[in-house]
Amino acid sequence: MFSGTPFCLLLALPFYYSTNIGALDITVSSGDTAFLPCPLLFNYTDFMRIGVKWEKDGGSILCTYSIQNNAIHDHNCKPRFKVNTEPLGLNITSVESSDAGLYKCLMIRLIPPTPDERSVTLRLKVNVLPSLTLQLTNSTNFSCVELLCSLQGLRPEQVNFTWTRATQFLHHHPESRSMNSTLMLCKPNWTDRETLTCHASYSHNHIRYSKSITLPCNSDSSSFFNVKFGLKANSSVVRFIVIGTLFASLICTALFFEVYYQCLAARRRQ
Ligand SMILES: *[C@@H]1O[C@H](CO)[C@@H](O)[C@H](O)[C@H]1NC(C)=O
Ligand SMILES: *[C@@H]1O[C@H](CO)[C@@H](O)[C@H](O)[C@H]1NC(C)=O
Ligand SMILES: *[C@@H]1O[C@H](CO)[C@@H](O)[C@H](O)[C@H]1NC(C)=O
Ligand SMILES: *[C@@H]1O[C@H](CO)[C@@H](O)[C@H](O)[C@H]1NC(C)=O
Ligand SMILES: *[C@@H]1O[C@H](CO)[C@@H](O)[C@H](O)[C@H]1NC(C)=O
Ligand SMILES: *[C@@H]1O[C@H](CO)[C@@H](O)[C@H](O)[C@H]1NC(C)=O
Ligand SMILES: *[C@@H]1O[C@H](CO)[C@@H](O)[C@H](O)[C@H]1NC(C)=O
Repeated sequence: MFSGTPFCLLLALPFYYSTNIGALDITVSSGDTAFLPCPLLFNYTDFMRIGVKWEKDGGSILCTYSIQNNAIHDHNCKPRFKVNTEPLGLNITSVESSDAGLYKCLMIRLIPPTPDERSVTLRLKVNVLPSLTLQLTNSTNFSCVELLCSLQGLRPEQVNFTWTRATQFLHHHPESRSMNSTLMLCKPNWTDRETLTCHASYSHNHIRYSKSITLPCNSDSSSFFNVKFGLKANSSVVRFIVIGTLFASLICTALFFEVYYQCLAARRRQ
């Protein structure tokens, strides 16, 4: 999988030097996949086992794995982080602006053991593309929905926000320098699974952005049970009721057939 020693060295050398000079910069756009290279800075042979650990901003550990026999072992990574083997490094999928920062790839030779740790430092920069996001925020009142629409990747300027339902006009948020707008709708002013749209027009270039969202079903099972039975139903109670009911009906059906066949048998014997 990984090339032989000479090629490895060739790859390793520039990065090895970069740790001494400073961090290597990597720039990606939000939503893309970022690749952070971390070649083995050891004269690698198949019997060696190298432990690798990725850290961000000198703190949180993102990923740990070890390499032996040209294969990755015992990898333990946070959700969007994946070990890439060819070339060796870390992939970050669906990059977000919060992923920007200083990443350090620490390597230690476990077999045969050596005390020296080697590392590669990379600086990830994220270009946030102008975009509109629309999300449902947690509303305390379950008959209400609250929506947050925000414009990202642009300097705060005058923005007009408009909310619509299909072609029906709902609300206009007058021009302001706020890059986001919220909309609160309470029953009966919204219905399950209907689609709402947020439009933003940005003064600087008069570009219009819009984004739609489909509202959830408010009578989802847990709140349905909450209302119906006044239970403080956590899902295990609901599951207990459902499984219990199914089990009971199964037993009843079995009993019914048991009795029916015994009757039939008794009648035949007569
Ligand atoms: C690899 O081995 C060569 C000689 O065998 C040595 O000069 C070099 O420093 C070693 N490189 C690393 C990264 O250990
Ligand atoms: C890492 O990203 C590259 C390019 O974006 C892709 O080709 C490769 O398959 C990815 N590797 C993994 C392990 O997801
Ligand atoms: C809403 O609440 C749930 C659980 O209480 C939480 O997991 C989720 O992140 C919250 N969402 C927002 C947008 O605050
Ligand atoms: C939820 O909102 C509706 C409509 O505004 C209101 O009538 C109701 O009293 C509210 N319920 C709670 C628990 O706040
Ligand atoms: C609203 O927009 C501003 C930037 O204009 C941002 O700093 C703030 O976090 C946003 N608020 C919410 C709730 O997203
Ligand atoms: C529904 O919308 C109308 C008109 O926009 C408003 O007057 C009324 O207060 C809203 N009702 C609720 C429960 O939010
Ligand atoms: C916002 O709306 C007002 C009135 O509809 C309009 O005059 C103004 O040009 C709009 N601003 C932007 C940034 O589109």
